[in-house]
Amino acid sequence: MKKYLALILAILMVASLCACGQQDDATAEGELVGVSMPTKDLQRWNQDGDNMKTQLEEAGYQVDLQYAANDIPTQVSQIENMIANGCKVLVIAAIDGDSLGTVLAQAKEAGIPVIAYDRLIMNSDAVSYYATFDNWNVGVKQGEYIETALDLANAGDKTFNIEFITGDPGDNNINFFFDGAMSVLQKYIDAGTLVCPSGQMATQKEDGSYDKATVATANWATDAAQARFENILSSYYADGTQLDAVLASNDSTACGVENALAAAYTNDVYPVITGQDCDIAIMKNLIAGKQAMSVFKDTRTLAEQTVKMVDALMKGTEPPVNDNETYDNGTGIIPSFLCEPVACTADNYVSILVDSGYYTEADLA
Ligand code: BGC
Repeated sequence: MKKYLALILAILMVASLCACGQQDDATAEGELVGVSMPTKDLQRWNQDGDNMKTQLEEAGYQVDLQYAANDIPTQVSQIENMIANGCKVLVIAAIDGDSLGTVLAQAKEAGIPVIAYDRLIMNSDAVSYYATFDNWNVGVKQGEYIETALDLANAGDKTFNIEFITGDPGDNNINFFFDGAMSVLQKYIDAGTLVCPSGQMATQKEDGSYDKATVATANWATDAAQARFENILSSYYADGTQLDAVLASNDSTACGVENALAAAYTNDVYPVITGQDCDIAIMKNLIAGKQAMSVFKDTRTLAEQTVKMVDALMKGTEPPVNDNETYDNGTGIIPSFLCEPVACTADNYVSILVDSGYYTEADLA
């Protein structure tokens, strides 16, 4: 009898433990996650938003996904609404990394953890985690591509003309993209191998970082990039001067450069142009030989990592990170997960983009 009683007791204990486990999951299940994206204008953010929504819903969460039309007050009020609607975790790709301090103080007050998505949110101690790509490495890949394509290491007395363009000054990522690329290219500028005819260059500061005001593009806008490059081309290249390379930090700015070249470049030698994102429109340009490379950042992987972070926060466990030293947002290091970027060219895009199911051949035709 005693034996049976002990057995029944053991079964009851196991059953109650299981019930506890289920209760934890049940508590997290159905909770609301706020996902704030900067704009629908750029292809990638649509994919990011869709991936996040799908994967979070598959994990059992409800999702409030909002796009802010690249307008900072809109993003702030969307986040305020998410907080008011009772979201339990916020995932934010900031339009301007420095403009969310006040609304995030409200999140902190309400005990809502914040994950910075792709772009670091600066100067706010409400940011708990950061999920992004290895942004420095994105720039290094762009710089290395130009270095190899022009064979700069063996240039001898030869000189090459280069122009520069990066993204929005309020996006902390440009500091990694641009400075990462310059970590490869600066020595060729110093040696006189790379020359910038427009003189529109970022100036290197004492700490080695760059002041990018001259080469920045508000909102990463294609139109603004095109206007600036039409100006450069008509002022410095109208006599047929050859442009050998353009360091462009992403595809939307590269696209502006390509439009300007189509309108106003007369030399037969087409420049080597870098980019990032592997947007469909740009991949068509790349396949047509108008852009040399892009950097592929698989938004499916970023969403996957971010959903793991959300899930861990909901369940009170440790979110997975792989970097605890690179990203200081002004209040200290933010524990980060960095996904790997991949250089994409006309030679490898099929295996990277089509074979992986990211695009179909038809998308790129
Ligand atoms: C992202 C890039 C994107 C750019 C413009 C950056 O913060 O990392 O992938 O091209 O913003 O939206």
